[in-house]
Amino acid sequence: MKRPESGLVYATRRFTFSAAHRYWRPGWSPEENRKVFGSLTQVHGHNYTLEVTIRGLVDERTGMLMDLGELKRVVGEAVTQRFDHSHLNEDPLFSGDAIPTTENLARGIWDLLAPKLGADRLWRVRLWEDPTFYVDYYGP
Ligand code: NI
Repeated sequence: MKRPESGLVYATRRFTFSAAHRYWRPGWSPEENRKVFGSLTQVHGHNYTLEVTIRGLVDERTGMLMDLGELKRVVGEAVTQRFDHSHLNEDPLFSGDAIPTTENLARGIWDLLAPKLGADRLWRVRLWEDPTFYVDYYGP
């Protein structure tokens, strides 16, 4: 289990995007899908809120953990532009059997960001599906 380390600073930036999805396993019959997923088998949308937390030492020259403009640009290019106003089921991330749940989307977002931000610097991805439900992912 990852634990916060003293001496490091943890900084979070919030992003929003809107996307549609449905829960459906192609290998299952329509009856099975409806039994497991209920009304979620219908296409519907969410206004997602993504919180990306990075960690590290403060650069004593700038007083900052990292250039927040760079963080905004990286997440914008890798995540927001990709998913905003998209149909998640049609994204290559969910081309196989993976269902675009908030759980799977949070893990997918981690995999998109870790190579760009550094797996050590990226601390947590928190994805809100709506104001009542969120998923945290700290990486594999
Ligand atoms: Ni949904």
